[in-house]
Amino acid sequence: MRIVVLVSGSGSNLQGVMDAIADGSLPVTLAAVGADRPGTGGVRRADDAGIPTFEVDFRRYPERSAWNRALTDAVAAYAPDYVVSSGFMRIVDQQFLDRFPQRYLNTHPALLPSFPGAHGVRDALAHGVKVTGCTIMIADAGIDTGPILAQAPVAVLPGDTEQSLHERIKIEERRLLIATLADLARSTESAGDRAPDRLPERR
Ligand code: GRF
Repeated sequence: MRIVVLVSGSGSNLQGVMDAIADGSLPVTLAAVGADRPGTGGVRRADDAGIPTFEVDFRRYPERSAWNRALTDAVAAYAPDYVVSSGFMRIVDQQFLDRFPQRYLNTHPALLPSFPGAHGVRDALAHGVKVTGCTIMIADAGIDTGPILAQAPVAVLPGDTEQSLHERIKIEERRLLIATLADLARSTESAGDRAPDRLPERR
């Protein structure tokens, strides 16, 4: 099973996927890593590991649909079975989703539908929840909407800051993303080496 991972930030979740592939626990091919801006940590990690990378710089496109088209073409060039948003902070449009129907996975550092959007950790902390967590879903055209594939709880500890809580959530997020990708790889394999028509059972 081939994947392309999209990042916007440090790429620590991507690193988890790369490590799992390297140690043999995740039987997928990381075909490429792409970013929406230059100089991300995620692209640097992939470059250091000799993995193909691309950047479709959002600021260089006159309008969003041109950027979406360029991103879709850049991803499609690697013929992925799945595209994984791992800290990718742009919303893709329907033409991207139509190109990879039911094949765009997103990770979110909160228990959706609670606390969607770019500040899920901060919002959960501010609300005073005692348990938050992370979600893996098949992204649709909304913001952190789409069918949920997997979730994991993370306790909020006294004195937690947004950063300390987010770092703990990311540990669970990496574990859940790797487990979800491994499930998809198994169901892709059993479907005869193509992405399955149905998604694995919810975790
Ligand atoms: C992850 O928690 C992801 O869910 C959120 O941003 C974080 C990305 O972290 N959208 P990193 O870039 O993988 O370190």
